Amino acid sequence: MEKNEKNKKEEDNKEELTIEDIPGVGEATAEKLRENNYTDIMAIAVASPSDLADLTGIGEGAAAKIIAAARKIAEVGNFETGDQIYQRRKDVHKLKSGSENLDTLLGGGLETQAITEFFGEFGSGKTQIMHQLAVMATMPEDRGGFNSDVIIIDTENTFRPERIIQMAKAKDLDSDQVLARIRVARAYNSHHQILLGDKAGEIAKEHPAKLLIVDSLTSHFRAEYMGRGSLSERQQLLNRHMHDLLRFGTLHNAVIAVTNQVSARPDVFFGDPMAPIGGNIVGHTATFRIYLRKGKAGKRIARLIDSPYLPEGEAVIQVSEDGVSDGT
Ligand code: GTP
Ligand code: MG
Repeated sequence: MEKNEKNKKEEDNKEELTIEDIPGVGEATAEKLRENNYTDIMAIAVASPSDLADLTGIGEGAAAKIIAAARKIAEVGNFETGDQIYQRRKDVHKLKSGSENLDTLLGGGLETQAITEFFGEFGSGKTQIMHQLAVMATMPEDRGGFNSDVIIIDTENTFRPERIIQMAKAKDLDSDQVLARIRVARAYNSHHQILLGDKAGEIAKEHPAKLLIVDSLTSHFRAEYMGRGSLSERQQLLNRHMHDLLRFGTLHNAVIAVTNQVSARPDVFFGDPMAPIGGNIVGHTATFRIYLRKGKAGKRIARLIDSPYLPEGEAVIQVSEDGVSDGT
């Protein structure tokens, strides 16, 4: 925990810096950079000199100098020793999901300091699971919760307090208290969603939250960036957003749970033709990916995909009025 405090302080200092603080970036250059979504120092630190030169009209040499300065400020290349990482990993907590089958699949629950992505078709239960996780996080630790507040970024206007009340009652919790610990912000477009991702860090300083939910991670991006021409811009923004989320998870030792739709892949003729949106960017940044399919009689099949150290496998869960469970 002390380490998290220290991280927070470091973040406070960094938050005061803007791209104008990079030596060589004047007002006009800053404006052009912002127009092209290079809004923070890290984005510039990882850019290529030729891209920056093209966008801003400055020479490549000057661009390279700006990038080098940004890297210094952003502390890119700040290596951690194995024991520092090990120490941080020891702080990892696991949040129970309401379904023991799903917890087992995940090696005990959803991990803090990681992004867990649930993807699947409409009606596959993603939003229901997000509601259940929100309730679980408010529960005491001896019941598998975090006794914590929750932050939800709702992009599709599907948060329903009525469902929280039903799920809280099913767990014998005071539903008013549960609702009071859940902070929901509606994101109206992808840009707003990115801003809310930043804002979550500020809110958590006052109301520590060990669960951050984004439901859905990709719908705005998918709707707003159509066609090949805008794909790289979309991926760049999505990448930045996901790294903001991951940073929140590390800093606050929080679970990050996100949902994602699937789209039909015209190139797949055998096997499952449904692929998650967001391509490699989402796939590589999410630590745990769970594919949800509808089963019979309210059952859902959750399949763990691409986990760094857990075996692939499936779990059957049930979505009912009482929420997410194993069913019987
Ligand atoms: P999209 O956001 O459209 O992609 O879908 P989603 O995966 O988020 O689906 P969601 O979690 O909204 O699942 C909706 C399904 O959950 C419904 O079709 C129902 O089967 C089930 N469900 C939702 N509320 C209840 C409830 O109160 N009782 C029961 N028995 N089932 C419910
Ligand atoms: Mg949904």
